[in-house]
Amino acid sequence: MSTQQKIFVVSGANSGLGLETSRQIAAAGNHVILLCRTQEKADRAVEEILRTNPGANLTGHACDMSLMEEIRDASAKILEAHQRIDGIVNNVGTWLSDYTETREGIETVFATNHLSYVLLTHCLYPALRQSGDSRVVNVASNAHSYGKINLEDPGYKKGYHGLKSNGQSKLANVYFTEEFHNRRPDRQISSYAISPGLVKTDIGLKRTNWLHSLAWKFRRRKGQTPAEGARTSVFCAIDPAVANQSGLYWENCKPKETFKSAKNDAWRTGLWEMSNELLGIDDYFHEKVND
Ligand SMILES: NC(=O)c1ccc[n+]([C@@H]2O[C@H](COP(=O)([O-])OP(=O)(O)OC[C@H]3O[C@@H](n4cnc5c(N)ncnc54)[C@H](OP(=O)(O)O)[C@@H]3O)[C@@H](O)[C@H]2O)c1
Repeated sequence: MSTQQKIFVVSGANSGLGLETSRQIAAAGNHVILLCRTQEKADRAVEEILRTNPGANLTGHACDMSLMEEIRDASAKILEAHQRIDGIVNNVGTWLSDYTETREGIETVFATNHLSYVLLTHCLYPALRQSGDSRVVNVASNAHSYGKINLEDPGYKKGYHGLKSNGQSKLANVYFTEEFHNRRPDRQISSYAISPGLVKTDIGLKRTNWLHSLAWKFRRRKGQTPAEGARTSVFCAIDPAVANQSGLYWENCKPKETFKSAKNDAWRTGLWEMSNELLGIDDYFHEKVND
């Protein structure tokens, strides 16, 4: 690997937007570390990208992103191999019709779509700090418009619905981006929340009931291809023109105003504090040099 090559980590990289984001970041001459649910899925994603770009520099890791223990382990392996990371694309996402909990006792959508973004970024922060220009790209959605942050019951154990859970998680991605921007001690580490637009992927077919699957089959017909949908993630991750344009929401490679749901200061700070508490993080930015 050339020492000049930048290193990016992409979560949920085996299909849809994550696969295409990885392909495009690698095509621009970067090393991409793909985090996928299993090693088999990671290997298949790497093979698929190598098929179209035999020279791509890729590493596939297994990581179930709904499990905080696995995120900590995968991050430790990445940090063993790399002192410097130039960007993370927190892309992993799931849409569940029914309430489920992970074996760690956290509701699965909240764990996967929000807590994984917070924890992976925290774990890799020491390596992001080693880059002169590093990016944290959080794949949010215009679905944040109907989201509410339920600080009392973030898993919606009472009154779960896939739409509420998805809306909350995508709003959480916007708030995490802003609060990360507000609090970060290192100004060269920038955060970006992005909307990929409507994209023809299988997200609404994988873990949904027949009604939600049918609705997604109709809805996604108007969507762009995953390669088109990945453009804004890739742009915010690697384009020199947007270095330091931190804390904003982007669509079609341009900043976009967030919806009203994203203007609640108590939700933004409350979510930050609750997430850190749930994850057992005392010092998000690893600022303590000596205890
Ligand atoms: N499609 C759209 O119109 C749209 C619009 C707005 C935002 N988004 C966002 O875009 C992101 C990517 O979604 P997509 O549409 O590209 O759907 P997708 O093809 O289903 O991609 C989601 C990826 O996340 C992975 N994943 C889910 N749970 C995981 C877990 N516990 N551990 C590891 N990997 C896991 C999936 O792997 P498996 O295949 O193993 O499940 C898949 O690789 C999501 O954050 C989604 O909310 C999508």
